[in-house]
Amino acid sequence: MPRASHRARAPLPPVDRVSALPASLPDAIAVVAADIDRRFDQLLAVPDDPRADLYRCMRHAAIGGGKRLRPLLTMATADLFGVDRDCAALVGTAIEAIHVYSLIHDDLPAMDDDDLRRGKPTAHKAFGEATAILAGDCLHALAFEVLADPATHADPFVRAELVLDLARAAGPSGMAGGQMMDLAAEQTRFDLNTVTRLQQMKTGALICAAVEAGAILGRLPAEGRTGLRGYAHDLGLAFQIADDLLDAEGDEALAGKKLRKDEEAGKETFLTLMGVDRARAQCAMLVDQAVSHLHAYGAEADLLRAVARYVVERDR
Ligand code: IPE
Ligand code: IPE
Ligand code: MG
Ligand code: MG
Ligand code: MG
Repeated sequence: MPRASHRARAPLPPVDRVSALPASLPDAIAVVAADIDRRFDQLLAVPDDPRADLYRCMRHAAIGGGKRLRPLLTMATADLFGVDRDCAALVGTAIEAIHVYSLIHDDLPAMDDDDLRRGKPTAHKAFGEATAILAGDCLHALAFEVLADPATHADPFVRAELVLDLARAAGPSGMAGGQMMDLAAEQTRFDLNTVTRLQQMKTGALICAAVEAGAILGRLPAEGRTGLRGYAHDLGLAFQIADDLLDAEGDEALAGKKLRKDEEAGKETFLTLMGVDRARAQCAMLVDQAVSHLHAYGAEADLLRAVARYVVERDR
């Protein structure tokens, strides 16, 4: 199916440029970050009862800091199709909730045992392990509650598709399964194919879900999603290679998290398999490839192109 076919099938509704994201990437990142902070603030009001610390812990992990790349991807993709801004932001918040939960659990002593995240103490350092585990559980549930809520989207078919896609991306065939393989990569020598699959699951799946959510909200028929899926697939892989490069070479103060962890853990990554220079070249190649998947789109997809380029250049 030709990539531009969705245009012929379903004419795009006029895009409300007033409510669309700013064209410049730094401005778009700032707008999305403020929007997501505000939505978590509303969703996570601290109750005056024994659950207060659970909410405080969720707020600590979810509000402030973070690049908000996943909601940005959802909102920028949804913008291609003139989707209501509030709706796209809520769906982006749900995906970010899964991401934040994954970070809380990733940092636990039983996993990466980290003290610093987004420039702050990790959730378990600030609130204790038990509360951090429960905060992760709650953010996981919150994501699906938001997606299934009729206030997020009026169409139950759209809601069900969003829930199904995110559940698949977060579970054993996606992020959590990839995290399991990542643990195994500390003990077992994996080949390049296995490391690629691991990265695709651990990090790529949620990035794919973020873009897919924009397409679902835009009611893009599945056969019209090939270009966006190719973009997200290559971007997801490039993103984790960039994370591994940052781990090896980045500045902790900028990254806001402890680095040099992968080598310490003896973990098999793209860097151990191909070395820093080839990993960087591979990351740049994947970004070019991601951008090339957007060829059916014009200037309206420039923000998605800029996000892809940012992934290789980022220092945090
Ligand atoms: C870090 O994700 C964990 C990975 C999946 C590589 P991000 O680099 O998106 O972290 P934040 O959200 O900006 O803190
Ligand atoms: C974590 O990967 C990916 C997740 C699914 C959370 P890392 O363990 O490399 O992420 P950082 O480096 O701690 O952010
Ligand atoms: Mg980890
Ligand atoms: Mg980690
Ligand atoms: Mg890392």
